[in-house]
Amino acid sequence: MIEIPERFAQSIIGREGEHGRVWVASLPPLVDELLERWNCGIVEQVGHGGVGIIVSVQSADGASAVLKISFPHPGNVHEPDAFAAWGGRGAVLLRERDDTHFAMLLERAGNGTLADLDDVDEAVAVAGTLVRRLSVQAPTGLPRLRDQIEGWQEDLRKDAERLPHPLPQRVVQAAVTAFRDLGHDQPETLVHGDLHFGNVLQAEREPWLAIDPKGYVGDPAYDAITLLRSRFEDLLAAEDLKAALLRRLAIFADAAEIDRERVRRWAQARAVMDAHWGREHGDPAWLIRFTDAIAELLI
Ligand SMILES: Nc1ncnc2c1ncn2[C@@H]1O[C@H](COP(=O)(O)OP(=O)(O)O)[C@@H](O)[C@H]1O
Ligand SMILES: [Mg+2]
Repeated sequence: MIEIPERFAQSIIGREGEHGRVWVASLPPLVDELLERWNCGIVEQVGHGGVGIIVSVQSADGASAVLKISFPHPGNVHEPDAFAAWGGRGAVLLRERDDTHFAMLLERAGNGTLADLDDVDEAVAVAGTLVRRLSVQAPTGLPRLRDQIEGWQEDLRKDAERLPHPLPQRVVQAAVTAFRDLGHDQPETLVHGDLHFGNVLQAEREPWLAIDPKGYVGDPAYDAITLLRSRFEDLLAAEDLKAALLRRLAIFADAAEIDRERVRRWAQARAVMDAHWGREHGDPAWLIRFTDAIAELLI
């Protein structure tokens, strides 16, 4: 049976308590059961992300795959639906799924990610091109960003009053207005939902493949903020941060074939949300300052 990495077990148990302990204990026999059902053998011991384990396996036909089992959380429900809709175009292929156990057998991609590219502009352009490919008609039943717009506007206002060191009012208001203007009229497009550089893996079938989607329905511009909150070092070193942010967003927007203004406004609004989240959940002070700066400069 596989061994669950201690650090992963501790972080799940720390976050989820008894439920987490029971889940972690259930994993080794579950992996055995799924590997047998899906006719796979283990190649390498277990890796993990924040919410699940990854086991490198080989299927009977010789194909390299990974078994991913995620913690049974509502946020992880639609990952296989997104993979299924993409059918391998721009994302790893979904070979098998067991929704009861939040388990999937996925095509294995390489180890390199967009975070490893020396040229950040190139990484951003790749992410944009990928967003264009992933922007397919959404399958039914996925959560719509549109349905969250009212709640987000409400949260923005309440959080601004409640949290310490609030952002200037005009910054929060710009976010509320952006959601009001853009939020109600969104396409029925499948949105990855967490397209940071580490979730784009180098591959052979296509040069880059996405992993780890949330699977939302709405505006592809939603993912733009994620690209401003990775590879900080270039941005932190920029003489003119505003110009550097706008430049990154322009590269993304052009590659994704989305209107630059829409991308800027979505990124500004989501930066305010992230700035609030960071205050609430103890982001380091420098990251809060940086996120605040994004929220202010993108107005
Ligand atoms: N299909 C795959 N091919 C190769 N490696 C993968 C694959 N899926 C996940 N991984 C590896 O496992 C890590 C965690 O997987 P991910 O799906 O991103 O889970 P999490 O939701 O925990 O971030 C990834 O960063 C990557 O290193
Ligand atoms: Mg991930």
